[in-house]
Amino acid sequence: MHIDIISVSPDLLKSPFEHSIIKRAQDKDLVTIELHDLREFGIGNYRQIDDYQFGGGAGMVLMIEPISNCIEKLMQKRNYDEIIYMTPDAKTLTQVTANKLSLAKNLLILTGHYKGVDQRIRDKYITKEISIGDYVLTGGELAAAVLCDAIVRLIPGVLGDETSALTDSFQDNLLSPPVYTRPAEYMGMKVPEVLLSGNFPKIEEWRTEQAYKRTKEIRPDLLND
Ligand code: ADE
Repeated sequence: MHIDIISVSPDLLKSPFEHSIIKRAQDKDLVTIELHDLREFGIGNYRQIDDYQFGGGAGMVLMIEPISNCIEKLMQKRNYDEIIYMTPDAKTLTQVTANKLSLAKNLLILTGHYKGVDQRIRDKYITKEISIGDYVLTGGELAAAVLCDAIVRLIPGVLGDETSALTDSFQDNLLSPPVYTRPAEYMGMKVPEVLLSGNFPKIEEWRTEQAYKRTKEIRPDLLND
């Protein structure tokens, strides 16, 4: 998979991709991630990328021309499965969306800033808009990092234990059951007996029960979906 990300602050995005599992995925050539600085496509001597909004109102808007030039240039090189815009005014990211996007070959992610981008960019180029939650960040960079992390870990070969992504929370619309490791007892707190029993069908049954219990308590909305 190849992911291009357009950003006003590409440095903000470097660190999340330089560590741990996402770094290893790149080292193994399972994914390539390329950052593109929107400022390089800015207009005039000051490389302007934003301007006041028509109709008045607080906050600057990212201009159509620099983004359009950047996207057009990238589109000459690649056919994108999706051109995604990170914005709080969109449907919230779910595991189902991450699963679908993990099958893509080429993704382009545009991150917003200030009041967002000129609507005409969204109308002309964007095929999918994603929010990572009902709150507003200072820019879309951290949201893009979250999206990439959620997608990349699902690419076959990225996680060591192939089954571990399948048993994540949300894969079956349930939260994960509790997990324990050694010691079996710590300051009087014991690990549930069933997990030490070696009876794997029983352990599976217990885990499913616990997953339902936890989901009912914390996220009953998932059970209604
Ligand atoms: N940009 C600012 N806030 C955001 C959010 N919640 N999700 C995606 N992009 C954003």
